[in-house]
Amino acid sequence: MSTAKKEVKRVTTHVLQNMKNTGEKISMVTAYDYSMATIVDDAKIDVILVGDSASNVIAGHETTLPITLDQMIYHAQSVVRGVKRALVVVDLPFGSYQGNSEVALHSAIRIMKESGAHAVKLEGGEKEAESIERIIGAGVPVMGHLGLTPQSIYKFGTYTVRAKEEAEAKQLKRDARLLDKLGCFGIVLEKIPAELGKEVSEDIRIPTIGIGGGKHTDGQVLVLHDLLGITKEFNPRFLRRYLNLYDDIKGAIEQYVSDVKSQDFPNDTEQY
Ligand code: KIV
Repeated sequence: MSTAKKEVKRVTTHVLQNMKNTGEKISMVTAYDYSMATIVDDAKIDVILVGDSASNVIAGHETTLPITLDQMIYHAQSVVRGVKRALVVVDLPFGSYQGNSEVALHSAIRIMKESGAHAVKLEGGEKEAESIERIIGAGVPVMGHLGLTPQSIYKFGTYTVRAKEEAEAKQLKRDARLLDKLGCFGIVLEKIPAELGKEVSEDIRIPTIGIGGGKHTDGQVLVLHDLLGITKEFNPRFLRRYLNLYDDIKGAIEQYVSDVKSQDFPNDTEQY
């Protein structure tokens, strides 16, 4: 009998649960446009997150708060067109769900209907329970997000590690259990102590995906522009850069400018 793993044709929430059950780590990265989504999908990433980090890395805002639901849908539509295999998850942006389950349901349905994505993600635990129940009740898979939740940055006041104190760690564990019970298919754990990431991952049934959550979470997620080194100034401890594209792209453009100025480009073979 062959021991080779069956190739996954399309990643679903069930495939992710199976990965957790069998100990296979889940890979997740953000994307915001068609071209990058095509490459990331071709590289066999498991999950593509159309993150509200688009507000930072695409639109240049300081926080994730300004991005709108319409803008998230535009990014999601572009990503979905480039994806054949990965599960596409879209962030519900700030102001599109908090504290009002009717609004939350409407926002989630707009994302699913207008973009063709497969699931939504929202930040928070207990406080968003009613919204989560209603969205899942409508048949939309929901991913939670605990720890450092960037939409609450003005409440936190800082981007430092969360849940170092016992009270906050206990609340996070309660929230994780609740999200599991409500039927979420996964939880992002952002910037929390590795030991807490381990405890939560072992305690709940559904997969945890860490970003600065240590090596014991069931998967890892990074912002694509950070992973590729397009962003230069953002250097948290959890970030591993796989390229330095800022310098590579700048070098290429400098060379192009120089070739145009010196009339080296276009040459005889690059014209009609
Ligand atoms: O918006 C985003 O990119 C995210 C990740 C940091 C998990 O939520």
